[in-house]
Amino acid sequence: DNGGYEHYLLKEISEQPDTVARTLRGRIDDRFHIAHLGGLNMDARETRSFRRVKIIGCGSAYYSGQIGAQLIEELARIPADAEPASEFRYRNPVVEPDTLYVAISQSGETYDTLAAVQELKRKGGRVLGIVNTVGSAIARECDGGLYLHAGPEVSVASTKAFTSTAVSFALLALHLARVRDLSPADGRRICEGLRRLPEQIEQILKLDEQIKTLAEKYAQSPSMMFVGRVRGYPVAREGAQKLKEISYVHAEAYPASELKHGPLALINPDMPTVAIVPDDELLDKNLTTLGEIRARSGRILMIGHRVADAADDCVVVPKNETELDPILLTIPLQLFAYHAAVALGRDVDRPRNLAKSVTVE
Ligand code: BG6
Repeated sequence: DNGGYEHYLLKEISEQPDTVARTLRGRIDDRFHIAHLGGLNMDARETRSFRRVKIIGCGSAYYSGQIGAQLIEELARIPADAEPASEFRYRNPVVEPDTLYVAISQSGETYDTLAAVQELKRKGGRVLGIVNTVGSAIARECDGGLYLHAGPEVSVASTKAFTSTAVSFALLALHLARVRDLSPADGRRICEGLRRLPEQIEQILKLDEQIKTLAEKYAQSPSMMFVGRVRGYPVAREGAQKLKEISYVHAEAYPASELKHGPLALINPDMPTVAIVPDDELLDKNLTTLGEIRARSGRILMIGHRVADAADDCVVVPKNETELDPILLTIPLQLFAYHAAVALGRDVDRPRNLAKSVTVE
């Protein structure tokens, strides 16, 4: 049942205030400013023992894992990174006893992710799952984890599961951080930021008409560039992925700082840039990059927390805590891809050549 929406994708985007609230429900402790994650099956001593975090997943799950790795590094100060599950398993990975492995999957059935988890288990790795589908193959294989509680995701392109995964990582990062050195005051700041998310997502959804107009304008381009720095980079990758998957418009995603090392050669009026520019310590650097794009006659759509002269168009979203902003910045890009796909007459919920869950090698 698509609940009166024209497409499941729009329904699932619109559900996010509620699905994020469900991911958070019962998991924030206001006394100690910590996360309650009963399903991890790890005591405090074990939780403190990890020296690295390695995150694996495929497609959008991998990009949400990149947001997760940054959250864990920033809040818990544990080195963390994300890798496509298929690459991980094909390279005969070194499995370390003091690394915490985290597998991400909406369906819980993606074969490459499942095979990577099985390989990890065989080598004695400690694996947590961040999974939407209760009782799925990956959930069963893991030592513990968190369920998203986002409800069934029907449309092939992931939206609400992506957001709930990023929110789950914020909870996991808070948990890892508060058994280490994150102060109660910072813990409280993150808890309060998490609680603000549903309301702020509601506000972003109200930008739908503006984003629709922008999507109709920019989707006429044969190709688009997505850029972001550090926290904005996984957001740019997911934004490009959404656009490719459902509108079939070619899109590239680059770290903003890498533009000048190659892809700047592509910039011209036919290749507009979507720039993810949060109000963080990198704002000035990002605005400089916009100037460089503009100097090559590139058109710019900026997604951020303010209007900037360097951009042709700006989508201004509510600001949260800096660490949590990537969660919100992704949502306008979901709407952008959706409206681009509709404008181009694509089969939004069932894009060509793709399956919701790839259960073969
Ligand atoms: C792809 C889907 O095949 O699998 C993507 O088209 C999805 O939308 C990816 O992100 C991973 O799926 P899952 O279920 O493991 O999160």
